[in-house]
Amino acid sequence: MPPQLKRLIPIFIVFIGLFLLIRHFLVPDTFGEYGHYRGNALIDISSKELVHASKSMCVDCHDDIQAIIENDVHAGLSCVICHGPGLAHVNDPTPENILKQGTRDFCGKCHEINAARPADVITQIDLSEHNIETNDCIDCHNPHEVWAGIE
Ligand code: HEC
Ligand code: HEC
Ligand code: HEC
Ligand code: HEC
Repeated sequence: MPPQLKRLIPIFIVFIGLFLLIRHFLVPDTFGEYGHYRGNALIDISSKELVHASKSMCVDCHDDIQAIIENDVHAGLSCVICHGPGLAHVNDPTPENILKQGTRDFCGKCHEINAARPADVITQIDLSEHNIETNDCIDCHNPHEVWAGIE
Protein backbone atom coordinates (compact mmCIF):
# COMPACT_ATOMS: atom_id res chain seq x y z
CA MET A 1 0.00 0.00 0.00
CA PRO A 2 1.43 3.44 -0.92
CA PRO A 3 2.37 5.46 2.22
CA GLN A 4 0.13 8.45 1.39
CA LEU A 5 -2.89 6.12 1.39
CA LYS A 6 -1.90 4.78 4.83
CA ARG A 7 -2.00 8.33 6.19
CA LEU A 8 -5.39 8.98 4.61
CA ILE A 9 -7.06 5.97 6.23
CA PRO A 10 -7.14 7.36 9.80
CA ILE A 11 -8.48 10.67 8.45
CA PHE A 12 -11.31 8.79 6.73
CA ILE A 13 -12.05 6.86 9.89
CA VAL A 14 -12.27 10.10 11.89
CA PHE A 15 -14.60 11.68 9.34
CA ILE A 16 -16.87 8.63 9.12
CA GLY A 17 -16.94 8.47 12.93
CA LEU A 18 -17.88 12.14 13.14
CA PHE A 19 -20.54 11.66 10.49
CA LEU A 20 -22.12 8.75 12.39
CA LEU A 21 -21.99 10.69 15.68
CA ILE A 22 -23.61 13.83 14.25
CA ARG A 23 -26.14 11.75 12.35
CA HIS A 24 -27.12 10.03 15.58
CA PHE A 25 -28.05 13.37 17.15
CA LEU A 26 -29.68 14.96 14.11
CA VAL A 27 -31.94 12.16 12.84
CA PRO A 28 -35.33 12.24 14.68
CA ASP A 29 -36.19 9.20 16.82
CA THR A 30 -39.07 7.91 14.73
CA PHE A 31 -37.29 8.33 11.40
CA GLY A 32 -37.64 5.17 9.32
CA GLU A 33 -40.41 3.70 11.48
CA TYR A 34 -42.71 3.30 8.46
CA GLY A 35 -40.58 4.51 5.57
CA HIS A 36 -38.06 7.13 4.59
CA TYR A 37 -39.64 9.85 6.75
CA ARG A 38 -40.26 10.77 10.39
CA GLY A 39 -42.92 8.40 11.76
CA ASN A 40 -44.29 11.03 14.14
CA ALA A 41 -45.04 13.29 11.16
CA LEU A 42 -48.19 11.18 10.68
CA ILE A 43 -49.39 12.11 14.18
CA ASP A 44 -48.59 15.80 13.55
CA ILE A 45 -50.52 15.81 10.28
CA SER A 46 -53.52 13.80 11.48
CA SER A 47 -53.98 16.15 14.43
CA LYS A 48 -54.58 19.12 12.11
CA GLU A 49 -58.11 20.42 11.83
CA LEU A 50 -59.97 19.23 8.72
CA VAL A 51 -61.22 22.02 6.45
CA HIS A 52 -62.00 20.43 3.09
CA ALA A 53 -65.31 18.81 2.25
CA SER A 54 -65.78 16.37 -0.63
CA LYS A 55 -68.09 16.79 -3.58
CA SER A 56 -70.28 13.92 -2.36
CA MET A 57 -70.87 15.75 0.95
CA CYS A 58 -72.17 18.78 -0.95
CA VAL A 59 -74.32 16.64 -3.22
CA ASP A 60 -75.99 14.98 -0.22
CA CYS A 61 -77.85 18.22 0.42
CA HIS A 62 -77.62 20.02 -2.94
CA ASP A 63 -78.58 17.25 -5.37
CA ASP A 64 -80.60 19.84 -7.33
CA ILE A 65 -77.36 21.64 -8.26
CA GLN A 66 -75.62 18.37 -9.05
CA ALA A 67 -78.48 17.43 -11.40
CA ILE A 68 -77.74 20.61 -13.38
CA ILE A 69 -73.95 20.68 -13.33
CA GLU A 70 -73.46 17.01 -14.16
CA ASN A 71 -74.84 17.61 -17.65
CA ASP A 72 -72.80 20.73 -18.27
CA VAL A 73 -69.23 21.76 -19.10
CA HIS A 74 -68.20 22.12 -15.45
CA ALA A 75 -69.28 18.57 -14.56
CA GLY A 76 -65.67 17.59 -13.97
CA LEU A 77 -65.04 20.33 -11.39
CA SER A 78 -65.48 19.73 -7.69
CA CYS A 79 -67.85 22.08 -5.86
CA VAL A 80 -65.09 23.19 -3.51
CA ILE A 81 -62.98 24.62 -6.35
CA CYS A 82 -65.42 27.53 -6.56
CA HIS A 83 -67.04 27.37 -3.12
CA GLY A 84 -63.94 27.14 -0.93
CA PRO A 85 -62.99 24.33 1.45
CA GLY A 86 -66.56 24.06 2.77
CA LEU A 87 -66.32 21.70 5.75
CA ALA A 88 -67.44 24.44 8.17
CA HIS A 89 -70.57 24.83 6.02
CA VAL A 90 -71.20 21.07 5.91
CA ASN A 91 -71.11 20.93 9.72
CA ASP A 92 -73.25 24.04 10.13
CA PRO A 93 -75.01 24.91 6.86
CA THR A 94 -75.70 28.63 6.67
CA PRO A 95 -75.32 30.98 3.69
CA GLU A 96 -72.63 32.91 5.58
CA ASN A 97 -69.91 30.28 5.80
CA ILE A 98 -69.55 29.28 2.15
CA LEU A 99 -67.78 31.18 -0.66
CA LYS A 100 -69.37 31.88 -4.04
CA GLN A 101 -66.55 32.86 -6.35
CA GLY A 102 -67.61 34.09 -9.78
CA THR A 103 -65.55 37.23 -10.33
CA ARG A 104 -63.47 37.97 -13.43
CA ASP A 105 -60.30 37.31 -11.44
CA PHE A 106 -61.52 34.00 -10.14
CA CYS A 107 -62.94 32.48 -13.35
CA GLY A 108 -59.91 33.91 -15.13
CA LYS A 109 -57.64 31.63 -13.11
CA CYS A 110 -58.74 28.82 -15.42
CA HIS A 111 -60.01 30.66 -18.50
CA GLU A 112 -57.56 33.48 -19.09
CA ILE A 113 -55.21 33.12 -22.05
CA ASN A 114 -52.17 31.20 -20.90
CA ALA A 115 -49.67 29.84 -23.38
CA ALA A 116 -48.70 27.09 -20.94
CA ARG A 117 -52.24 25.68 -20.95
CA PRO A 118 -53.53 23.96 -24.08
CA ALA A 119 -56.57 25.85 -25.43
CA ASP A 120 -58.22 22.58 -26.48
CA VAL A 121 -58.43 21.54 -22.81
CA ILE A 122 -59.91 24.74 -21.35
CA THR A 123 -61.40 27.43 -23.57
CA GLN A 124 -59.38 30.58 -23.15
CA ILE A 125 -60.66 34.14 -23.35
CA ASP A 126 -58.89 37.47 -23.28
CA LEU A 127 -59.93 38.95 -19.93
CA SER A 128 -59.06 42.44 -21.11
CA GLU A 129 -61.51 42.15 -24.04
CA HIS A 130 -64.21 39.60 -23.23
CA ASN A 131 -67.39 41.46 -22.23
CA ILE A 132 -65.63 43.99 -20.03
CA GLU A 133 -68.75 46.11 -19.60
CA THR A 134 -69.83 44.12 -16.51
CA ASN A 135 -67.79 43.10 -13.49
CA ASP A 136 -68.47 39.47 -12.78
CA CYS A 137 -68.54 36.53 -15.16
CA ILE A 138 -71.64 35.23 -13.38
CA ASP A 139 -73.56 38.34 -14.44
CA CYS A 140 -73.92 36.42 -17.74
CA HIS A 141 -72.73 32.84 -17.23
CA ASN A 142 -74.45 30.61 -14.69
CA PRO A 143 -71.49 28.75 -13.16
CA HIS A 144 -73.43 25.47 -13.03
CA GLU A 145 -74.88 25.78 -16.54
CA VAL A 146 -72.66 28.19 -18.40
CA TRP A 147 -74.74 28.80 -21.54
CA ALA A 148 -78.16 28.97 -19.86
CA GLY A 149 -79.94 32.06 -21.10
CA ILE A 150 -77.11 33.30 -23.37
CA GLU A 151 -76.77 31.11 -26.43
C1 HEC B 1 -76.26 19.23 5.65
C2 HEC B 1 -76.73 19.82 4.41
C3 HEC B 1 -75.77 20.66 3.60
C4 HEC B 1 -74.51 20.29 3.13
C5 HEC B 1 -73.76 18.98 3.40
C6 HEC B 1 -74.06 21.37 2.31
N1 HEC B 1 -74.98 22.38 2.29
FE1 HEC B 1 -74.85 24.13 1.28
N2 HEC B 1 -76.57 24.79 2.13
C7 HEC B 1 -77.34 24.06 3.00
C8 HEC B 1 -78.36 24.92 3.56
C9 HEC B 1 -79.45 24.51 4.57
C10 HEC B 1 -78.16 26.20 2.99
C11 HEC B 1 -78.88 27.47 3.30
C12 HEC B 1 -80.09 27.65 2.54
C13 HEC B 1 -80.64 29.01 2.94
O1 HEC B 1 -80.71 29.29 4.14
O2 HEC B 1 -80.92 29.78 2.02
C14 HEC B 1 -77.05 26.06 2.07
C15 HEC B 1 -76.58 27.08 1.26
C16 HEC B 1 -75.54 26.93 0.34
C17 HEC B 1 -75.13 27.93 -0.61
C18 HEC B 1 -75.80 29.25 -0.85
C19 HEC B 1 -75.25 30.31 0.03
C20 HEC B 1 -75.96 31.62 -0.21
O3 HEC B 1 -75.28 32.65 -0.16
O4 HEC B 1 -77.17 31.61 -0.46
C21 HEC B 1 -74.07 27.43 -1.28
C22 HEC B 1 -73.25 28.12 -2.36
C23 HEC B 1 -73.82 26.11 -0.77
N3 HEC B 1 -74.74 25.83 0.22
C24 HEC B 1 -72.82 25.27 -1.22
C25 HEC B 1 -72.47 24.08 -0.61
C26 HEC B 1 -71.27 23.35 -0.91
C27 HEC B 1 -70.25 23.74 -1.94
C28 HEC B 1 -71.26 22.25 -0.10
C29 HEC B 1 -70.17 21.21 0.04
C30 HEC B 1 -68.90 21.75 0.50
C31 HEC B 1 -72.49 22.30 0.70
N4 HEC B 1 -73.17 23.43 0.37
C32 HEC B 1 -72.84 21.36 1.65
C33 HEC B 1 -77.17 22.72 3.33
C34 HEC B 1 -76.04 21.99 3.08
C1 HEC C 1 -67.32 27.08 -11.66
C2 HEC C 1 -67.55 27.39 -10.26
C3 HEC C 1 -68.62 26.62 -9.52
C4 HEC C 1 -68.75 25.26 -9.38
C5 HEC C 1 -67.87 24.17 -9.96
C6 HEC C 1 -69.88 25.05 -8.51
N1 HEC C 1 -70.44 26.24 -8.17
FE1 HEC C 1 -72.08 26.54 -7.03
N2 HEC C 1 -72.03 28.52 -7.41
C7 HEC C 1 -70.97 29.17 -8.00
C8 HEC C 1 -71.21 30.61 -7.97
C9 HEC C 1 -70.29 31.67 -8.53
C10 HEC C 1 -72.47 30.79 -7.35
C11 HEC C 1 -73.22 32.10 -7.13
C12 HEC C 1 -74.13 32.28 -8.30
C13 HEC C 1 -74.86 33.60 -8.26
O1 HEC C 1 -74.86 34.25 -7.22
O2 HEC C 1 -75.43 33.96 -9.30
C14 HEC C 1 -72.95 29.45 -7.00
C15 HEC C 1 -74.14 29.21 -6.34
C16 HEC C 1 -74.43 27.99 -5.71
C17 HEC C 1 -75.56 27.76 -4.81
C18 HEC C 1 -76.60 28.79 -4.42
C19 HEC C 1 -77.89 28.55 -5.19
C20 HEC C 1 -77.77 28.96 -6.62
O3 HEC C 1 -78.20 28.17 -7.49
O4 HEC C 1 -77.25 30.06 -6.91
C21 HEC C 1 -75.47 26.46 -4.40
C22 HEC C 1 -76.41 25.74 -3.45
C23 HEC C 1 -74.31 25.87 -5.05
N3 HEC C 1 -73.71 26.83 -5.84
C24 HEC C 1 -73.88 24.59 -4.86
C25 HEC C 1 -72.90 23.97 -5.64
C26 HEC C 1 -72.61 22.56 -5.59
C27 HEC C 1 -73.28 21.58 -4.67
C28 HEC C 1 -71.63 22.33 -6.50
C29 HEC C 1 -70.98 21.00 -6.87
C30 HEC C 1 -71.91 19.96 -7.31
C31 HEC C 1 -71.30 23.61 -7.12
N4 HEC C 1 -72.09 24.57 -6.58
C32 HEC C 1 -70.33 23.81 -8.10
C33 HEC C 1 -69.85 28.59 -8.58
C34 HEC C 1 -69.68 27.23 -8.74
C1 HEC D 1 -60.87 24.90 -12.16
C2 HEC D 1 -60.95 25.45 -13.49
C3 HEC D 1 -62.19 26.20 -13.89
C4 HEC D 1 -62.79 27.25 -13.25
C5 HEC D 1 -62.41 27.89 -11.92
C6 HEC D 1 -63.85 27.71 -14.10
N1 HEC D 1 -63.91 26.93 -15.21
FE1 HEC D 1 -65.15 27.22 -16.79
N2 HEC D 1 -64.46 25.50 -17.64
C7 HEC D 1 -63.49 24.68 -17.12
C8 HEC D 1 -63.39 23.48 -17.92
C9 HEC D 1 -62.43 22.33 -17.66
C10 HEC D 1 -64.34 23.60 -18.95
C11 HEC D 1 -64.66 22.56 -20.03
C12 HEC D 1 -63.68 22.64 -21.17
C13 HEC D 1 -63.98 23.85 -22.01
O1 HEC D 1 -64.97 23.81 -22.76
O2 HEC D 1 -63.29 24.86 -21.88
C14 HEC D 1 -64.98 24.90 -18.77
C15 HEC D 1 -65.93 25.44 -19.64
C16 HEC D 1 -66.48 26.71 -19.52
C17 HEC D 1 -67.30 27.38 -20.49
C18 HEC D 1 -67.72 26.79 -21.84
C19 HEC D 1 -66.63 27.04 -22.85
C20 HEC D 1 -67.00 26.48 -24.22
O3 HEC D 1 -66.13 26.50 -25.09
O4 HEC D 1 -68.12 26.02 -24.40
C21 HEC D 1 -67.65 28.60 -19.99
C22 HEC D 1 -68.51 29.67 -20.66
C23 HEC D 1 -67.06 28.70 -18.68
N3 HEC D 1 -66.34 27.53 -18.42
C24 HEC D 1 -67.21 29.76 -17.81
C25 HEC D 1 -66.71 29.80 -16.52
C26 HEC D 1 -67.06 30.80 -15.53
C27 HEC D 1 -68.04 31.93 -15.77
C28 HEC D 1 -66.35 30.51 -14.42
C29 HEC D 1 -66.39 31.20 -13.08
C30 HEC D 1 -67.69 31.14 -12.38
C31 HEC D 1 -65.55 29.35 -14.70
N4 HEC D 1 -65.81 28.93 -15.97
C32 HEC D 1 -64.65 28.79 -13.81
C33 HEC D 1 -62.70 24.96 -16.02
C34 HEC D 1 -62.93 25.98 -15.12
C1 HEC E 1 -71.94 40.44 -20.75
C2 HEC E 1 -72.07 38.99 -20.66
C3 HEC E 1 -70.80 38.15 -20.45
C4 HEC E 1 -69.86 38.29 -19.46
C5 HEC E 1 -69.80 39.31 -18.34
C6 HEC E 1 -68.91 37.22 -19.68
N1 HEC E 1 -69.26 36.47 -20.76
FE1 HEC E 1 -68.29 34.87 -21.46
N2 HEC E 1 -69.48 34.82 -23.08
C7 HEC E 1 -70.61 35.59 -23.27
C8 HEC E 1 -71.17 35.30 -24.57
C9 HEC E 1 -72.43 35.94 -25.16
C10 HEC E 1 -70.33 34.32 -25.18
C11 HEC E 1 -70.47 33.67 -26.55
C12 HEC E 1 -69.96 34.60 -27.61
C13 HEC E 1 -68.49 34.84 -27.46
O1 HEC E 1 -67.71 33.90 -27.59
O2 HEC E 1 -68.13 35.98 -27.15
C14 HEC E 1 -69.29 34.04 -24.22
C15 HEC E 1 -68.26 33.12 -24.39
C16 HEC E 1 -67.42 32.65 -23.38
C17 HEC E 1 -66.51 31.55 -23.47
C18 HEC E 1 -66.31 30.66 -24.69
C19 HEC E 1 -65.36 31.40 -25.62
C20 HEC E 1 -65.08 30.60 -26.88
O3 HEC E 1 -64.12 30.98 -27.55
O4 HEC E 1 -65.80 29.64 -27.17
C21 HEC E 1 -65.89 31.42 -22.27
C22 HEC E 1 -64.85 30.40 -21.86
C23 HEC E 1 -66.39 32.48 -21.44
N3 HEC E 1 -67.31 33.22 -22.13
C24 HEC E 1 -65.98 32.69 -20.14
C25 HEC E 1 -66.23 33.88 -19.46
C26 HEC E 1 -65.52 34.29 -18.27
C27 HEC E 1 -64.44 33.48 -17.56
C28 HEC E 1 -66.01 35.51 -17.93
C29 HEC E 1 -65.53 36.42 -16.81
C30 HEC E 1 -64.13 36.82 -16.96
C31 HEC E 1 -67.04 35.86 -18.89
N4 HEC E 1 -67.13 34.85 -19.81
C32 HEC E 1 -67.81 37.02 -18.86
C33 HEC E 1 -71.11 36.52 -22.36
C34 HEC E 1 -70.41 37.00 -21.26
